[in-house]
Amino acid sequence: MGGDGLSSHAHVIGWGKYVPQRVLKNGELSELLDTSEEWIRSRTGIRERHLAEDGETTADMAVQAARQALEVARFSPAQVELIIVATITPDHLFPSTACLVQDMLGATSAAAFDLSAGCTGFVYGLSVAANMLSSGAYRTALVIGAETMSSITDWTDRATCVLFGDGAGAVVLQSGENEGGVLATALGSDGSGGDLLWLPAGGSRIPTSQRTLDERLHFIQMKGREVFRFAVKVIRDATCEVLEKAGHALDDLTLLIPHQANQRIIEAAARSLDLPPEMVYSNVEWYGNTSAASIPIALSEAVEKGRIQTGDLIVCVGFGAGLTWGAAAIRWTLPQPALTPLRRRIVRRLYYSLARIRSRFRRLFRWLSTFGIKNGLNGGRRRKE
Ligand code: ACO
Repeated sequence: MGGDGLSSHAHVIGWGKYVPQRVLKNGELSELLDTSEEWIRSRTGIRERHLAEDGETTADMAVQAARQALEVARFSPAQVELIIVATITPDHLFPSTACLVQDMLGATSAAAFDLSAGCTGFVYGLSVAANMLSSGAYRTALVIGAETMSSITDWTDRATCVLFGDGAGAVVLQSGENEGGVLATALGSDGSGGDLLWLPAGGSRIPTSQRTLDERLHFIQMKGREVFRFAVKVIRDATCEVLEKAGHALDDLTLLIPHQANQRIIEAAARSLDLPPEMVYSNVEWYGNTSAASIPIALSEAVEKGRIQTGDLIVCVGFGAGLTWGAAAIRWTLPQPALTPLRRRIVRRLYYSLARIRSRFRRLFRWLSTFGIKNGLNGGRRRKE
């Protein structure tokens, strides 16, 4: 990244998004809880959100978004060298969701890990990947933000359950010598605010027990007003900091893509930066807060809608649990993609089917070799007896 003094540049060459089919409208929530369409719309700007189907997981959604991003980039999964999945709702505590994604994509040459930085996760992931590419350690990375927020939402808590939605967004990054791409990133954290937005139980401090289940400690808890104030401040500060690091002024900015948590936060941040509404991307109305997925979903949508053109300077800025915040300044270097030819789409579909078969075979071989070792050991023991 130029602004950080590194020579190679990380360019965004693919993007994709996925939201589940199922839509939950405010009206449906007001039938279940003591809330109203009017309260949710006026306090948050949210009209509806998408929820994962039963059995649909963070990895499943991440794979859908990643496949789209690879399609745009015209990359085979086998070319991906690094996969970072930003999420606070992984399929399991371990293995990482990134490893599940690696297997499902058939990304046979990729290192893979998860990153937890709340709703700032995608910007953190972008920063880590861009630096790894700029250093020359990797040439291609897939950065994904994916969340099944519905799995940690307390559907009896009206103060939080109206806010969140599920989905995933992804970008493909490639290193190149040409100017542009991720110009600079600025990240921050303040752990003293950890309890403003947290999921209390299920970790080593408060392991899962009957008590934690009874006290509903496996769901998001949030002090909304404090998070609101923090959000408006860090959106402004991080945006200014990253532009300065990139050697630009606010006047050079084409589009700000903030984390989509609340329309009032987005508008307050825009006012504090003195930006007109058309320079700040917002889609919170249709998806709610999808945490780490919100920025890559918004980014993909903005490109699809023609809101981002070659040469534009955009800033993605996030804030969230931790507390964390971060911004990335990107000089957009790629033209709009042409439609992928049918033949290529068929070949790609075949590749993903083969990836599933490959995964099953590897599991089978692993089982067989374990079986062989066990028998060998038992045989050894028997021989000793
Ligand atoms: N329906 C009706 N009334 C409600 C609802 C609801 N869904 N939720 C809260 N209320 C009530 C409250 O009980 C309160 O009533 P009271 O005055 O009688 O006590 C009243 O509405 C006002 O509550 P506030 O919390 O002050 O409402 P506020 O205007 O601050 O809006 C909100 C709440 C939407 C949560 C806002 O504070 C916010 O968006 N905060 C930021 C949240 C956020 O961005 N979180 C995500 C961070 S990203 C991550 O890492 C996951």
